[in-house]
Amino acid sequence: MALNSKQLCFLLTLITIIFCFRGTYCASRTEAETVYSSLFSSYIKEIRPGSDQNTPLTVNITYFLLAINSFDEVSGIIDVPSMFSLSWEDEKLTWNPWTNGNLYYLLVPQTALWLPKLYLTTPSKAFKAIGDDEYVLRILFNGYVYWSTGGIIKSTCSPDTTYFPFDTQNCTLNIFAFGYTLDEFKFNVTSKVDLRYFQENGEWELVESVGNGVTVTDDEYETSMAVFEIIIKRRPAYFVVSILCPVVFLVFLNPLVFVLPVESGERMSFCLTILLSFAVFMTLVDDVMPKSSEPAMALVSYYILGTIVQSGFVTVINVFLLAGYHKSDDARVPRILRFLTRKWCCSSNKNRIQKININSTNEPDKNSDNLADDNEVTWKMAISFIDCALFIFCYTLAIASTIGFMVRLIIGK
Ligand SMILES: *[C@@H]1O[C@H](CO)[C@@H](O)[C@H](O)[C@H]1NC(C)=O
Ligand SMILES: *[C@@H]1O[C@H](CO)[C@@H](O)[C@H](O)[C@H]1NC(C)=O
Ligand SMILES: *[C@@H]1O[C@H](CO)[C@@H](O)[C@H](O)[C@H]1NC(C)=O
Repeated sequence: MALNSKQLCFLLTLITIIFCFRGTYCASRTEAETVYSSLFSSYIKEIRPGSDQNTPLTVNITYFLLAINSFDEVSGIIDVPSMFSLSWEDEKLTWNPWTNGNLYYLLVPQTALWLPKLYLTTPSKAFKAIGDDEYVLRILFNGYVYWSTGGIIKSTCSPDTTYFPFDTQNCTLNIFAFGYTLDEFKFNVTSKVDLRYFQENGEWELVESVGNGVTVTDDEYETSMAVFEIIIKRRPAYFVVSILCPVVFLVFLNPLVFVLPVESGERMSFCLTILLSFAVFMTLVDDVMPKSSEPAMALVSYYILGTIVQSGFVTVINVFLLAGYHKSDDARVPRILRFLTRKWCCSSNKNRIQKININSTNEPDKNSDNLADDNEVTWKMAISFIDCALFIFCYTLAIASTIGFMVRLIIGK
């Protein structure tokens, strides 16, 4: 999918060859040699073009985005094979095609003449001019110079993973000609980024790409800058299937521990297994997250943290429930629990109603506090009431937090 530098080189050569055939179809080699030696006999390539050195040289620049090799959100580096097509006017390189055997174009190695050196302001590796010395450029008889350069650009781009895995990244490539001020050099940027050679990436979808020229002012002088914006959107299917769905599934699995009979002896292992599973998913998410707190941490990290807290709470509660369950039958149940359990039994469970003195529960007043009635409510009954209450509470919490999280993700993106 992605282009490596060999393929890029091949592409550039191919374009050059196609232009060659169209340009120099009927001129002879001798004529090309004559033009070449007359053009370059007194040409000094260190001096920039422009008969008036006080007016800026305007360079047209078009950006060809070839592919998105990768975007590493952990280190914040985007890797894009790119090509820049530049043209400017060099008034010293003109000749008359009619007197030179219809020679309209001349192809010369780029080292023969003046070139703008393009630099990226946000390189992730070495601070080096973009491109290579190997390319060929084309001179039109009226002095227009056409040059294509390019390479694999690795630029830093600060990731924003707030809405992971539905996040969109905005990366800008700022290109400038090192050393030249606005009085000497000016970019004329084609706003449309050329995508004719663009290859899709499996992880990122290109949403938009635009180019524009800006003037950057600092204390001493102004510089012209070509700014290319690349806006990419993550294709979320992989992370939805491998992280989001399993986590939501576990969140809804967790409260089921309150349905599991205490006698089975499986409650603690159930709780701890789910707690550990959340920890595993937390590390999976952490692997694809930048270790930064700005601009904002991913919502999914907060969600998983919430689920771990909930799962920890469920585990702790269960320890106390098991302790309560194994108390002897004549151990006293706290008054408030007795009262609530009796209410719950009456309204929901017919079997238990029979066990409880109906008269006293129908009128929950001072009478209900007498010892005979209290002894009817055992710890086991109280625990089954707490189980039921917590089951409903945890499910409500799980549904509310999951809906809240989903809505936030969808509205946000
Ligand atoms: C730069 O682009 C403008 C508009 O597209 C065009 O008129 C001009 O001739 C170009 N200049 C060169 C040197 O190619
Ligand atoms: C992308 O970022 C640049 C500069 O940071 C900003 O000017 C531009 O508006 C942003 N584009 C979008 C679509 O957010
Ligand atoms: C810059 O480009 C625009 C259109 O792309 C064109 O209209 C304008 O003439 C160009 N300016 C120069 C100085 O070439």
